[in-house]
Amino acid sequence: MRESNIDIRPVTPHLGAEISGIDLRAASDATIATVKHAFAEHAVLFFKDQHLSPDDLLAVTGRFGEVLRVPYVAGMASHPDIIAVLKEADERRISTFGGTWHSDFSFLPEPPDATLLQAAELPRLGGDTLWANQYLAYETLSDGLKRLLDPLFAVHTGWPHGTTGPGPDAAVSRSIKMTRNDPGADKEVLHPVVRVHPVTGRKALFVNPVYTQRFAEMSVAESKPLLDYLHQHCTRPEFQCRLRWQDGMLVMWDNRSTLHLAINDYDGERRLLYRTTLAGAQPRGIAHMESL
Ligand code: SIN
Repeated sequence: MRESNIDIRPVTPHLGAEISGIDLRAASDATIATVKHAFAEHAVLFFKDQHLSPDDLLAVTGRFGEVLRVPYVAGMASHPDIIAVLKEADERRISTFGGTWHSDFSFLPEPPDATLLQAAELPRLGGDTLWANQYLAYETLSDGLKRLLDPLFAVHTGWPHGTTGPGPDAAVSRSIKMTRNDPGADKEVLHPVVRVHPVTGRKALFVNPVYTQRFAEMSVAESKPLLDYLHQHCTRPEFQCRLRWQDGMLVMWDNRSTLHLAINDYDGERRLLYRTTLAGAQPRGIAHMESL
């Protein structure tokens, strides 16, 4: 497949692009550079017709950065750096992995820059994924609220908000094994509420309803009204794009500038995807960037 066949089509005015005419397994450095450029512009990329095996997925992920072995969720026995995102057909009326708006593992001191997800087996209908643009979420706030939020930090933890934790063997379903392979993963970690993207220089809101517990130096009760407002604001429909998965599709999304959610509407059907994660750096807030 020649590089000149690459076609990059935005899927909404503000978020997401579909890329066709590319075989990521055989991509040249120039093609990867083109993809990185598109990634900075669109934040979520849908690659058609990739059909990557687990080995291919790891190799392709490595072209974009350092592969991260994530805490809490057990990787595949054969490929520990890959999570099999699976819900079996007989797993009805249970939560699904990633079923609430979040940025992956935002509770880590260095949260992952990006995530890749390769479709392996899809329901006939349903099981779509949504993303929401967090640059827009920030940019559409009033100047007064921006000024209030700009210097703030928030506490993120690996335990779902408001609970004391799922326990050592808890599972979203029997198909996703949550583990405690990183003893530091449930520590409180502070991140700026508004982060500056290291590649684009744009400001993005960086809170989510799964891992953000409260604002730093405030109680949960004091933080709740404003966090509730931000959580509903930052997923407004006009900030979103939605993917109806296709056979062989690979998706890569930016956890620094987007939130995402897996729609759990396909009980009775099997859904399997393979997921890798790209390591990231400590998020930088506005004050830090201005001091440089
Ligand atoms: C995730 O949050 O990584 C899962 C996304 C999906 O299954 O669509």
